[in-house]
Amino acid sequence: MPLRLVSRPGEDGAVAGLLDRACASPSALVLEGEAGIGKTTVWFNALDLARQRAFTVLSARTAETESVLAYAGLADLLGTVDVSAWTNLPPAQRLALERVLLHSDDGRHETDRRAVAAGFLSVIEGLAQQAPVLLAVDDLQWLDASSRHAVAFAARRLRGRVAVLVTERIDPAVGSTCAWLQLPRPEDLTRVRVRPLSLGGLTAVVSDRLGRSVSRPKMVRIAEISGGNPFYALELARVMGTGPAGAGAPLPSTLADLVRTRVGSVTSDVGNFCWQRRV
Ligand SMILES: Nc1ncnc2c1ncn2[C@@H]1O[C@H](COP(=O)(O)OP(=O)(O)O)[C@@H](O)[C@H]1O
Ligand SMILES: [Mg+2]
Repeated sequence: MPLRLVSRPGEDGAVAGLLDRACASPSALVLEGEAGIGKTTVWFNALDLARQRAFTVLSARTAETESVLAYAGLADLLGTVDVSAWTNLPPAQRLALERVLLHSDDGRHETDRRAVAAGFLSVIEGLAQQAPVLLAVDDLQWLDASSRHAVAFAARRLRGRVAVLVTERIDPAVGSTCAWLQLPRPEDLTRVRVRPLSLGGLTAVVSDRLGRSVSRPKMVRIAEISGGNPFYALELARVMGTGPAGAGAPLPSTLADLVRTRVGSVTSDVGNFCWQRRV
């Protein structure tokens, strides 16, 4: 059974506004927030909405472990694009993109970063003449450096019907590390912070995912400790065990305690989350 999603009117409204604006001229939206707050969930919804609105969607989800792989992100972005989108490009650009996609390697030349970036921009502009385009990257902070160069180059030169939607995991102590993403006009790029879920929202997520209800006092405590973060709330609810509401182990009062309780089953996401929250 598909998971029920708690609606997020603010974030979903920002996405709808982005798609509206992009039907006239380039527009970008950065969904920022801490790990587990719900960025990827909003991002996936946005992809669905864009497809419903007949956008051509180019998407990539990055992973920290792949951030050292040259052009991994760009290859994902171009992975669903029909080859006809670049067959008529100048040979240097076509060859560069074919190398990125590992369709060709004559082994004689280094991949020309400028040709890749120019080719990528040409593909986007060509696609945008047929239908509006959504360029979407989840966890932009981990985009590999080669892809970052191509995306930055293209974004600064965008024309036509193109939306750029990215998520960025933010460490509050450091701030954004993705200031390199710019559009021709700075005012066309907006940032929206993904908000914590309310007590009611967290209760719905927890009961839906765990298939059992949690008493209101415990949910109030979970909401307090998690700060409205659904990932953290789910982890907290899981350590409570399956006893009747109100029974079971006392709740860990900090994230560090939670991780100690969950050690052994701790996921890499929890690890990332802890790094993010400095526990
Ligand atoms: N609106 C929502 N409704 C239901 N569950 C949600 C919602 N937002 C996030 N979640 C759940 O919370 C967890 C973390 O969400 P995710 O989107 O992966 O966060 P992030 O990308 O910010 O790390 C996931 O298990 C996700 O399914
Ligand atoms: Mg995510």
